[in-house]
Amino acid sequence: MGFSTKAIHAAIEPDPVTGSIMTPIHLTSTYVQEELGKHKGYEYARVSNPTRTVLEKQIAALEGGKEGLAFASGMAAIATIFSLLKSGDHVIVSHDVYGGTYRLGKLVLGNFQLEFDFVDASETDNLKKAIKPSTKMVFIETPTNPTMTITDLTAVSRLCQARKLISIVDNTFATPYFQTPLDHGIDIVVHSATKYLNGHSDMLGGLIVLNDADLTERLRFLQKSIGGIMSPFEAWMCLRGMKTLAVRMDRHNANAMEIAEFLQNHRKVQKVNYPGLISHPEHRLARKQMRGYGGMISFDLGSLEKAKGFLKKVRLCALAESLGGVETLISHPVTMTHASVPPEQRKKIGVTDGLVRISVGIEDVEDIIADLNQALKGI
Ligand SMILES: Cc1ncc(COP(=O)(O)O)c(C=O)c1O
Repeated sequence: MGFSTKAIHAAIEPDPVTGSIMTPIHLTSTYVQEELGKHKGYEYARVSNPTRTVLEKQIAALEGGKEGLAFASGMAAIATIFSLLKSGDHVIVSHDVYGGTYRLGKLVLGNFQLEFDFVDASETDNLKKAIKPSTKMVFIETPTNPTMTITDLTAVSRLCQARKLISIVDNTFATPYFQTPLDHGIDIVVHSATKYLNGHSDMLGGLIVLNDADLTERLRFLQKSIGGIMSPFEAWMCLRGMKTLAVRMDRHNANAMEIAEFLQNHRKVQKVNYPGLISHPEHRLARKQMRGYGGMISFDLGSLEKAKGFLKKVRLCALAESLGGVETLISHPVTMTHASVPPEQRKKIGVTDGLVRISVGIEDVEDIIADLNQALKGI
């Protein structure tokens, strides 16, 4: 079955009671049992819900995994994964991960004697050097947010298998349409479903996909114990969005390629980060492990003043956090998504004051370019 067919049919069956082609939204907190110990597979909605079950099966099918788990947000999913750890454990994380993942590791879980080290994972050797006897996990984003660096998924999974570490990839930017980390031997894939999977900027959600039965059991236990689960309505919204993932991603990708080339040729732009450009340092690796480059671009205007001036002038592109919706969103990582990353760390990872990030939408590309062009002219 091809990806687009799977996205519409993999786990989605007409409702057996009514024939409704759309998965019903099961708004219930509990389920009536026939007698003690005899039920239809559902007991209490924090543990499981039929709408959520369909979404969990659906994302598992798209990522090529056995099991899926749905959460209230990407951060709830990531926090649940980190809850597999015990105090004293050490985690290695890509140094330019989403600011919220940095904040959770450094500023929250650090208080529970969990140690997080942030390294440049585009060089697998850096990961190897960071491993200590207490290391338990390697958490990677590729492409990273917002500098768009690429990490070799096969190299990471080999390293983790050899050292018995759990490998985790945040696949939010690429989506399973362009990249399937489990195929490279990665243990756990996590998503902010808020982004491309939903695709319409109208919900929050997190998803986990994996193959290993023992890890699945531990994560399901944590999911019901912590309770950061996705609501039935959000699960339905996410299911609805995922059906069009392939067509949306093709358009995001095509628009982003044109915009990256436009920005690269503009004299007021100092640097463009987009893995689809031949000038990107890891373009060849991206080509090898991805089926497309996605819709995220970042570019440097050289100073905070220029970035501020530019962001004041855009009209079609909306100044907002988040990404992955059908509309083009534009943001300033230093003051928005990465504000909780200390300035010295930001400098180290290339998140400069003049860096602007675009989540390229699926509007007509000429209109997006015209807007960027008029805003660039004004600075
Ligand atoms: C790459 C990435 N991972 C995780 C998250 C967190 O997801 P959520 O906002 O759904 O909690 C985000 C949010 O922007 C993100 O960009």
